[in-house]
Amino acid sequence: MIDFETILVDTRGRVGWITLNRPEALNALNAQTMHDVVIAAEQFDADPGIGAIVITGAGRAFAAGADIKEMEDRTGLDMRLGNYFAEWGRLVAVRKPVIAAVNGFALGGGCELAMMCDIILAADTAKFGQPEINLGVIPGMGGSQRLARAIGAYKAAELVLTGRMIDAAEADRAGLVSRVVPADALLDEAQAMGDTIAAKSLPSVLAAKELIRTSLESPLAEGLRHEAALFASLFDTRDQKEGMAAFREKRQPAFENR
Ligand code: CAA
Repeated sequence: MIDFETILVDTRGRVGWITLNRPEALNALNAQTMHDVVIAAEQFDADPGIGAIVITGAGRAFAAGADIKEMEDRTGLDMRLGNYFAEWGRLVAVRKPVIAAVNGFALGGGCELAMMCDIILAADTAKFGQPEINLGVIPGMGGSQRLARAIGAYKAAELVLTGRMIDAAEADRAGLVSRVVPADALLDEAQAMGDTIAAKSLPSVLAAKELIRTSLESPLAEGLRHEAALFASLFDTRDQKEGMAAFREKRQPAFENR
């Protein structure tokens, strides 16, 4: 692992951790942070010793958005030709499950980063919102699209148009988070969830993630065909034979990730 400027990276068992580490700026996402997160996530994705990835933030924020001070003086053409947030697409393309452990503010690009992840585990003190409207802009890292899909068009419209921040309990009721846990248990819960996923057979984990993504992007019939094909393909893995034999023999499976 290389040293990164804006994030901390470490491995705990088979779980790769990425901690956004600009707490003095509430982990505002500048271009360097985007690059660092993407490179670290791709390294974990390629590493056979890793089965799940956790992204969290140091200090009192997960991330308080894209870096306003970095963007402030740009023109529309700068943003367009520079394809400003495009690199985040490489995080979305990571094949292993990514858990967002949201420890505090997840605003603007921070909320959008959480929504790029597969699972959002929130501390009970977490706060979510898309306040870009207060800056004279709109969400730019996928928020208008992913938030509407996650919580429905009407609640998404309210949050995007008013910039109102919601707490973890409201985010939970709205379906924006997978689960809310006490703030002091967040990192342990994220590690436990990562351990659980990383102990499964990796081919089935990759297939499951891919299909949940497909469900958000494709018509139902296409998604069902994709599911049928991947489901069938898993019957050519040793882990499927092991998993089903272990069930019959009333023991825990010993997966080999093949
Ligand atoms: N960009 C740059 N710096 C930021 C930042 C951001 N998004 N959010 C916070 N900071 C900085 C502050 O400027 C401050 O720095 P200084 O000490 O140098 O002044 C430091 O972090 C601490 O922040 P505050 O003093 O403001 O802390 P607070 O507790 O009073 O308020 C907050 C917390 C409500 C989260 C407030 O910081 C805030 O409103 N932040 C901006 C939230 C926002 O608008 N996010 C959207 C950004 S645009 C975007 O994300 C576009 C997109 O869709 C990709």
